[in-house]
Amino acid sequence: MTFTPMPERIATPRLVMTPQVPSDAGWLADLFTARGKGVVTPDDAAVRIAAMQELVAEHGIGARVLRLREGGDALGYCAIVVGRGSLEEPELAYELLPAAHGHGYATEGSRALVAAAFGTGRTRLWSTVRPWNEPSLRVLARVGFRRSRTTTDAQGEILWHVLDGGRRPAAPGPWGAHDVVA
Ligand SMILES: CC(C)(COP(=O)(O)OP(=O)(O)OC[C@H]1O[C@@H](n2cnc3c(N)ncnc32)[C@H](O)[C@@H]1OP(=O)(O)O)[C@@H](O)C(=O)NCCC(=O)NCCS
Repeated sequence: MTFTPMPERIATPRLVMTPQVPSDAGWLADLFTARGKGVVTPDDAAVRIAAMQELVAEHGIGARVLRLREGGDALGYCAIVVGRGSLEEPELAYELLPAAHGHGYATEGSRALVAAAFGTGRTRLWSTVRPWNEPSLRVLARVGFRRSRTTTDAQGEILWHVLDGGRRPAAPGPWGAHDVVA
């Protein structure tokens, strides 16, 4: 099965999303270190950027750095990666710097990236989250993913979420992205 590449640059109402480049190593090291699993240096981050650039070049998916349209520092990234999925049915992932949380950027970036991933010809995407990660679970729900199954690894439960192409990502209602209409 062949797929077309995702566009390099993706724009949303508030964001511009572009591929990772070597100069992203500094803030990405901060982001990976913020996971709390040890210090990640800019050199370590540069290795991950190079691997990401290979994924982009070979398979046309990968990470996009989020920045505000009016410019400024990176906010984090959204990505379509193989992860626990496959090249045909890859995973959505996202991670924002702490200062960028709580503004809807992960949701806005993910909606656009998911649309770009379906634009490649793919018809199913996955995302896997730990049960304690409420903010991430809320992002997935807003983007339109549904809970599929639960597996377990050495760190505990993994909640698998699926999104089928053709089903449009949940659109924000008139009161914003997370209104509930009873
Ligand atoms: C998961 C993560 C990206 C979510 O970030 P976030 O800031 O909560 O998510 P969003 O950017 O979509 O923001 C949504 C929040 O912003 C607020 N918000 C403000 N303006 C908004 C808007 N225009 N649209 C949507 N939400 C908006 C909402 O109140 C919402 O809060 P809620 O989730 O409590 O309802 C972030 O917590 C993170 O980077 N965590 C560490 C890495 C991680 O866990 N990654 C996922 C691995 S599975």
